[in-house]
Amino acid sequence: MKLKRASAVVGTPELPGDKSISHRAALIAAIAEGETRIQNFSASADCVSTLNCLRELGVQIKVDGSEVAVMGVGKTGLRLSNITLDCGNSGTTIRLLAGILAGQDFESSLTGDDSLKSRPMERISTPLTQMGASVVSTDGHAPLKIQGRNPLNPIEFRLPVASAQIKSAILLAGLHANGETTVIESAPTRDHTERMLELFGIEVRSEDRDGKRISIRGGQPVSPGDMKIPADISAGSFFMVAAACMPGSDITLRNLGVNPTRSAIVDVMKRLGVEIDILNVDNQCNEPTATVRIRGGLQATRENVPARISGAFIPNLIDEIPILAVLGTQLANGLEVRDASELRHKESDRISSIITNLKLMGAEVTEFSDGFYVKSSNLRGARIDAYSDHRIAMAFAVAGLLADGETEIEGADCAAVSFPGFFEILQGVVR
Ligand code: S3P
Repeated sequence: MKLKRASAVVGTPELPGDKSISHRAALIAAIAEGETRIQNFSASADCVSTLNCLRELGVQIKVDGSEVAVMGVGKTGLRLSNITLDCGNSGTTIRLLAGILAGQDFESSLTGDDSLKSRPMERISTPLTQMGASVVSTDGHAPLKIQGRNPLNPIEFRLPVASAQIKSAILLAGLHANGETTVIESAPTRDHTERMLELFGIEVRSEDRDGKRISIRGGQPVSPGDMKIPADISAGSFFMVAAACMPGSDITLRNLGVNPTRSAIVDVMKRLGVEIDILNVDNQCNEPTATVRIRGGLQATRENVPARISGAFIPNLIDEIPILAVLGTQLANGLEVRDASELRHKESDRISSIITNLKLMGAEVTEFSDGFYVKSSNLRGARIDAYSDHRIAMAFAVAGLLADGETEIEGADCAAVSFPGFFEILQGVVR
């Protein structure tokens, strides 16, 4: 994929349904008592992996465009699969599904592509084992073999890393426990699982005491219901940053999910003085949504930029850090990101992918074990490796719009992992 410098981005790009919320809708619908219709389901390859795994477990699923109908089989109705469940590139699929399978009376095997097989899995095998399932990994990685148990033991578990995927795996397993399971998080992570469980009629208690304590009582019935998934703010972030970096840009994102545990990028943009309007605030799928309009550019605030992102902010924009790194090259005082060592365990080692590619484009960058510092830099076109990482491919496509000369993204197809059609939609708004 080749890109050239642009002068602005203008328009109303059509974003896919939120990937994180779509996974949860399908997974919980599968164990509900009856049919759930989900509109605006994410077309991402990751969510297709979730649907395919659920089909292998005996769940009937009909897909009609972006509408998905899931015939729920109930909490104990999943069927033993004779094949290894292939979670593809999707960390959310393998970790959340592991939580559900831990509470089933049969054995399951889960695997994924090379990237997924290199990502840490002891973070879910430890709590699920404490709950009474047997989870055997391959040196802490997938493939995983899970011998489930019903009922599971309720546990109280403090998250060792701020991860919504670990929290969600435990809460989903907690549905199959004979008592109340509590997850304690020291920094808030995305709360889509809690909201989705509530939408399916399940009571989830949340209490601030020595961290945030989220509790679920096992044995509650899962009631199906219809829903429409909000547009994906992480997919929208590429357009937000492109607009912010180019004066004259004007981008509107409709029905965007603006859950406070996901929308820290909007706060960062505001802090940077970007003109950003939040309109038509609404609620869809037990999630806050809004129309978000961003106008370029950054010049007004080129002096005196608060250019550090760290601490409890990180989990709420963890997936936006590759595109924020690109934004950093356009800030007068650059951008420092710290406390983000989790980036090393994503679809690629994102700190390393960001550093290598920014350097190729002529940016001055310093690498830290838990982040990086990027200086204000004039970018030049280069041949970029996407490192089989969708967010790296899309972030550097935007960098290509800001760079002199031509930028070529090797392996750009991986953008479909979260955002099929991204490059066409981007070209459609480029001026
Ligand atoms: C996700 C949680 C985050 C995020 C990932 C999706 C989710 O991962 O990076 O893209 O849907 O729960 P962690 O929870 O492991 O940080």
